[in-house]
Amino acid sequence: MLGKMTPTIERLGRESLLACVELADACGWSDELSDWRPLFAAAEVTGVRRDGALVACCTRAPLGAVAVLGKLLVRPDARRRGLARALVTRAIEASQGAVVSLVATDEGRPLYDSLGFSPVGEIVALDGRLAADGPPLPPDVTLGAFDLTRAVELDRALTSCDRGELLRARAAEAVQAWSAFRGGEFVGYAMATSHPERRLVGPVIARDPSLGAALVCAVAGIHRVRVHVPSFHWATVEALTTRGLEVTARRAELTLGGVASPLATPARVALASQALG
Ligand SMILES: CC(C)(COP(=O)(O)OP(=O)(O)OC[C@H]1O[C@@H](n2cnc3c(N)ncnc32)[C@H](O)[C@@H]1OP(=O)(O)O)[C@@H](O)C(=O)NCCC(=O)NCCS
Repeated sequence: MLGKMTPTIERLGRESLLACVELADACGWSDELSDWRPLFAAAEVTGVRRDGALVACCTRAPLGAVAVLGKLLVRPDARRRGLARALVTRAIEASQGAVVSLVATDEGRPLYDSLGFSPVGEIVALDGRLAADGPPLPPDVTLGAFDLTRAVELDRALTSCDRGELLRARAAEAVQAWSAFRGGEFVGYAMATSHPERRLVGPVIARDPSLGAALVCAVAGIHRVRVHVPSFHWATVEALTTRGLEVTARRAELTLGGVASPLATPARVALASQALG
């Protein structure tokens, strides 16, 4: 039996990959191994077991100036015993000196509010198949082979975060990725990974955010996609919805204490994923 006592939190290794996907499934989330491999590579995964079985977990991606929390999951039969509160409290303690950021579900909001998180933005989840006539790139912008080294450099310059491990891990899963050049200068990148039914687009980073919709379309191709776009990129959201995507959710982006997050820069056109910011 799991009581109201302080739970034993453990750091989970890659051998728990499948257990995490199964836990997500038990919570109604259709996660794939390809969602979790980058988390084990670029984030700390912590969890609580009951009789050897994983009943709760949480991820924390330390990205330098920002720590992104995600995948807070508690099995339905283990809820309201303080497991989520204990996991988030531990993750906050481990993030001293960094802005603690996350994208919240409605179910998670009461806990985050009680721990001192406040909204700093809104993330729009878009889903669907894009029309073939995507927004054209400006004539002075060309797409080329994805260049991880230059993507990491540009990402660091534009977000002030260290997302090297995260980008390496997402790129390893990517089925499509592009670099964008303007007059020979590296000005952005986009990538997408594959799910059974759709591509998951992100991250998309662009020095000029007006390139965002064209970059999303370039990695989407003819496939059904899901992408998470900060709502202040309303022109990108509009460009994507007029070409066939539907808004399926609007979620609050929160930080501890409501402090501004350097990751929430206009250059971030699409999140890496909800769990990775
Ligand atoms: C959200 C979730 C992680 C909470 O897990 P939990 O272990 O039950 O949460 P805790 O027991 O630590 O509760 C912490 C606080 O959250 C709030 N809370 C949790 N569940 C709640 C509910 N169903 N209704 C209202 N408040 C709730 C309460 O304030 C609670 O404190 P209290 O029990 O002292 O009143 C769990 O419901 C879950 O896995 N949901 C599905 C996945 C999800 O949405 N995760 C959040 C991602 S952002």
